[in-house]
Amino acid sequence: MNKLSIVILAAGQSTRMKSELPKVLHPLAGKPMVQYAVEMAAELTSEKPLLVVGNGAGQVRRAVGDQVIYVEQRELLGTGHALLQARPLLEGRSETVLVWYADMPLLSVDTLRRLLELHEERKGPIAMLTVEADDPMGFGRILRDEAGQVVGIVEEAVATDAQKAIRELNCGVYCFDGDWLWPHLAQLPLSPKGEYYLTDIVAMAVAEGQVVEALKIDDVTEIRGINDRTHLAQAEAAMRQRINKKWMLEGVTLLAPALIFIDATVEIGQDTTIYPNTYLQGATTIGRQCHLGPNTIVRDSTIGDGCTVEASVVEGAILEDNADVGPFSHLRKGAHLAQGVHVGNFAEVKNSYLGPGSKMGHFSYLGDATVGQEVNIGAGTITCNYDGQRKHPTIIEDGAFIGSDTMLVAPVRVGAGAKIGAGSVVTHDIPPGSVAYGVPARVKGKVKEK
Ligand code: UD1
Ligand code: CA
Repeated sequence: MNKLSIVILAAGQSTRMKSELPKVLHPLAGKPMVQYAVEMAAELTSEKPLLVVGNGAGQVRRAVGDQVIYVEQRELLGTGHALLQARPLLEGRSETVLVWYADMPLLSVDTLRRLLELHEERKGPIAMLTVEADDPMGFGRILRDEAGQVVGIVEEAVATDAQKAIRELNCGVYCFDGDWLWPHLAQLPLSPKGEYYLTDIVAMAVAEGQVVEALKIDDVTEIRGINDRTHLAQAEAAMRQRINKKWMLEGVTLLAPALIFIDATVEIGQDTTIYPNTYLQGATTIGRQCHLGPNTIVRDSTIGDGCTVEASVVEGAILEDNADVGPFSHLRKGAHLAQGVHVGNFAEVKNSYLGPGSKMGHFSYLGDATVGQEVNIGAGTITCNYDGQRKHPTIIEDGAFIGSDTMLVAPVRVGAGAKIGAGSVVTHDIPPGSVAYGVPARVKGKVKEK
């Protein structure tokens, strides 16, 4: 017998989203909505949660993978019917069944813990979350008797005007006694809308003389359900604020936080400063004492300590400590800057390594290149890495000096300490320590010892 089983409902039609993408896969702060529910479940129990899927089930399965156990709801007959699909897997197997809807990503794990505690203490058939709000948001309304006991939930679609005026709302988070739940769930009445509402189970418990516990939460933002794209935008803003606050409390300086967009998947070190209009996205890690922005995008990248990225785009890249980039440069997939590398303005680096202390100040492109340490890449240097059919590598060894406006026609190698004169087109390998220039470049002598 499991102590706790979790069921997340995510099968519903996303009609109001007007989207090809299932609602629960719409991203919030860079993460699919459903992922927030899945991660919260993992914090509460090591048993995988059940995810009820239906609309767009294939897409949801691909996105969520093996983090959950899937239950298919073939006909979308309402939230009560959705939960009933989990019966064969859970009946007689769990003491407590915690259920919530996948379209409320702002819910906090602390709130779920408090609900579980209440349920544990009272041992009733149902404990649920409610909230009081001025805007009813289309939520079900909580019905109470004179003594203040919960007696039912009425859905907005079938509520009377008097019921619609009720300010206490159903959040869509319930804790059930496992033995009580399943036989009762199977007896839910069909609603006038032709669905089996999970919410009707509350009145069933009350009709039996049982007490339904309600935990009233204070913060309505936590349970904002996302039904259309205006809700999505509100939830996104709330999530961004939450993430920014977390990083500020962790010692990150955000100048004008409302203009800084940090995905939920990002890590940032202490004493880093982030300037406005900066986006940190995807699998990104930022070190300590960095300066990022303004006007910068860092996506799926790892940035060490003490780095500066100004008005630039960095994606799929690695920057080791004290590297600096920008303004107006683009690091693409596979760019790797070692310690102290300087990439200045209007530079592009793709699938290339620059060794410690190398500099690439102005108007250059490096693609498929391996650059040693303390190399100087002159202004306007280009690796001609593509011959129209295939990509070819360029190797520039330690301490080489590439003069301004050089074309390196790959595959090609420039030896250690070699000097290439300005305006050269390098079509052949240049031996270490030699001086070469011209079009095409030829070796003209040896570099003089200093
Ligand atoms: C539901 C509640 C309402 C509550 C609100 C809180 C019911 C009947 N109503 O309304 O009382 O105030 O949430 O946000 O429960 N789903 C399925 N299969 C279905 C239908 C829905 O899996 O057949 C899933 C959806 O994917 C969604 C969740 O259940 O994640 C809630 O469904 P939704 O249609 O959004 O319900 P609401 O109208 O918001
Ligand atoms: Ca909803």
